[in-house]
Amino acid sequence: PALQALLCRMPKAELHIHIEGSLEPELIFALAQRNGVALPYANVEALRAAYAFTDLQSFLDIYYAGASVLLHEQDFHDMAWAYFQRAAADHVVHAELFFDPQTHTERGVAMGTVVQGLVSACERAQRELGVSSALILCFLRHLSEEAAFETLEAALPYRQHFTGVGLDSSERGHPPEKFARVFARCRELGLHVVAHAGEEGPPAYIESALDVLKVERIDHGVRCVESPALVQRLAALRMPLTVCPLSNVKLCVYRTMAEHQLPALLAAGLCATVNSDDPAYFGGYINQNFVETFAALPQLGRDHAYTLARNSFQASFVPAETKQRWV
Ligand code: HPA
Ligand code: ZN
Repeated sequence: PALQALLCRMPKAELHIHIEGSLEPELIFALAQRNGVALPYANVEALRAAYAFTDLQSFLDIYYAGASVLLHEQDFHDMAWAYFQRAAADHVVHAELFFDPQTHTERGVAMGTVVQGLVSACERAQRELGVSSALILCFLRHLSEEAAFETLEAALPYRQHFTGVGLDSSERGHPPEKFARVFARCRELGLHVVAHAGEEGPPAYIESALDVLKVERIDHGVRCVESPALVQRLAALRMPLTVCPLSNVKLCVYRTMAEHQLPALLAAGLCATVNSDDPAYFGGYINQNFVETFAALPQLGRDHAYTLARNSFQASFVPAETKQRWV
C-alpha cells in the first residue's frame, strides 16, 4: 500500500506510448458514429471481447482496425487529449508520443491533419495540465523502406513538430537493417532515433538497431536477456530500454507477470523504464503497469521505483537543463 502510493504518485516520464493505442473502445464507437465509419463489431462490449491476443500480429490487426475511425484533425486532438488527462492523473509530467502516420495516410488522411490534431493536444496538455510532451514519428516496418522515405518526405513540412523517428509494427521478418538508409537520412536531419527491437524479435535485432540504425533508445528490448554479452553492452552504453510489462504479458512474450525480466534488467544495471505501450488494449495506463509489475515481483521495492522514475527522465529527449531539474 505504501509502495503502491509511491508508484502512483511519483513524478514520471512516459517514453513508450503509441497514441493510437490509447484509443478506448468508447471513443472508437463515438468517433465511428461522428464520422459515419462502419465497424465490424456490434458494440463496445463486442470490441473489448476481441482483445484476447496470442501474439503481436493478432493485436496489430485489431489496433489498425480501431484507428480507422480517425479522419479529422479534431479526432486526433480528442484521442491525444484523452490520453493526456489520464497521464496527468498518473503523475506523468512528460510524455513522448509515438504516432503512426502511414496508418492514416494510407486511408487518405493528410499528414497535416494527423500532425496538427496531435500538436494542438500537446499544446493544450502543457497549458491546462502542465504536462510537457514530444512527438515521435514511427515508420511501419511491415511496409517498405521506400514507403518510409515517402512518409518522411510528407512529414518534412512539419519537421519542427516532431523530435524523432521510431520503428514499429510487425517485428519478425522485418529487421532494423531494412531501414538503414532512411534512418541515416533522419540522423542527418537532426532527428532523434529509436526502434522497437527484441520484443518478439531476437537479440540480433537489438544489435542491428544499435549498429545499423544507431538508435538512442531501444523500445521493449526485453529479449536482450538471452545474450549476456548484449546485456553487458547495453549496460555499459547506458542504453535506455522502454519496457512495457502489461503489453508483454498480453502479447504472450511472458506467460505471467511473475516471469517478467524487469528485475533482471535492473539488477544488470540497465537503464530500464516502465511504460504503457497501448494502454487501451493491454489493460491499463502507466501506473497500472507499475502497480501490477511490483505486485507480481516482490523482489522489486522502493529503490527500484526511484530508479525507474529517474531512468525515465534521464532517457527522455528533453534538454539537459530540464533533466537536471527533474533528477
Ligand atoms: N510493437 C510493435 N508495434 C506496435 C506496438 C508494439 O508493441 N504497439 C503499436 N504498434
Ligand atoms: Zn510499442
